[in-house]
Amino acid sequence: MVKVLIVGSGGRCDAIAAKIKESELVDLVFCAPGNAGIARHAINVPIAVEEIDKLAEFALKEKIDLTIVGPEVSLSLGIVDKFNSLGLKIFGPTKAATTIESSKSYAKELMKKYNVPTADYEVFTNYEEAIKYVEKKKMPIVLKYDGLAAGKGVIIAKTYEEAKTNLYDMLIDKEFGEAKVVIEDFLEGEEFSYMCFVKNDKVYKMIPARDYKRIYDGDLGPNTGGMGAFTNLPFITKEDEDFAYNEIMVKTSKALVKENRPFMGVLYGGLIKTSTGIKVIEFNARFGDPETEVVLSCLTSDLYKAIIDIMADKEPELIFDKRPTLGVVLTSIGYPGKYEKGKKIFIPAFEEGFIYHMGTKLNGNEIVTNGGRVLMVVANGYTLEEARINAYEMVKQIDTKNLYYRKDIGLKFI
Ligand code: AMP
Ligand code: GLY
Repeated sequence: MVKVLIVGSGGRCDAIAAKIKESELVDLVFCAPGNAGIARHAINVPIAVEEIDKLAEFALKEKIDLTIVGPEVSLSLGIVDKFNSLGLKIFGPTKAATTIESSKSYAKELMKKYNVPTADYEVFTNYEEAIKYVEKKKMPIVLKYDGLAAGKGVIIAKTYEEAKTNLYDMLIDKEFGEAKVVIEDFLEGEEFSYMCFVKNDKVYKMIPARDYKRIYDGDLGPNTGGMGAFTNLPFITKEDEDFAYNEIMVKTSKALVKENRPFMGVLYGGLIKTSTGIKVIEFNARFGDPETEVVLSCLTSDLYKAIIDIMADKEPELIFDKRPTLGVVLTSIGYPGKYEKGKKIFIPAFEEGFIYHMGTKLNGNEIVTNGGRVLMVVANGYTLEEARINAYEMVKQIDTKNLYYRKDIGLKFI
């Protein structure tokens, strides 16, 4: 009897759960805490992602064979160290290796030391010194709070005044707690996310995907967790992908081994193709959301077997469908600002395509909204245009009275 526990509740965990459930090697899947959609593939367990001790207790009691971690919060609380200390098998980076995501200044230092291409930067704790540095710089300039700030710690200041006000909030008012800010040059180009499975210096690639971070069409408005994604990026060549793999993902994994923070799990490169080459905007220590939903929808080989093989230092089989795949996120109205939960939603049965639940819950037999991002609709096609048409056709069939979505996912690239 092989049992897998997935930690998390968003769309990425729904996509992981769906794939793990497909494996012929797996008998039972649990997800903590899960959501209404994840309940299609897994047994939801009411333990929160921060409750590391309770998760470990559950894994021991249920004799879980493998735990896969979704969110960064469990990783930076040391879930992997805890499970390792109890002899429980878990796929994800240790707290020390997670620093590549949880501290922007650490990630930047590592990249500088090992020559991984990224924007020039300096780190500041002192407001006056930060202002002096900004005065010498071209605008826009990027200010990054050094720590986890739920996607809200990055400011792109277009003017000197804007930079000054934000630095005041970050360094004097200490808006996010500990006052440390990375100030880096603004990079221009097409962004893409590149996720790889990593065990120490061994790196196995997934396919690149494009994320849409802003709430409104045309990439306007505030940042969100991600409003849509697609694969088969027309602006990324084979050479670009090879460069990203060798010069960024492999180099960084090797650097982490040298620094005594060997990484095991999914290393996510948030990359940008600039006129002077591909550079790193950020690293994450986990599957990206909503990229995972489109990328794993393309995976035709066994995800569970791949993870087990990677952990056992065996070459995994990773086969991806070559067709473009595109996903549209449906959110609660008001997100990423204030929004209400508990709104009824109706999802018809689809013969093709995928519906991933991001923030839903069962209320009796009804599905209700339970978060900012609610659903992600994913479809493929022989061209990006066809994938886009198929995904939006599915959206049309969902009752979107209580939901909002972007209309332009993939549009610029057709
Ligand atoms: P991060 O949390 O570091 O991914 O930043 C959030 C978003 O801010 C990124 O996806 C980019 O769109 C933007 N961003 C961050 N750093 C830079 C940079 N150096 N140049 C241009 N845009 C950036
Ligand atoms: N889609 C960006 C992230 O997962 O952080």
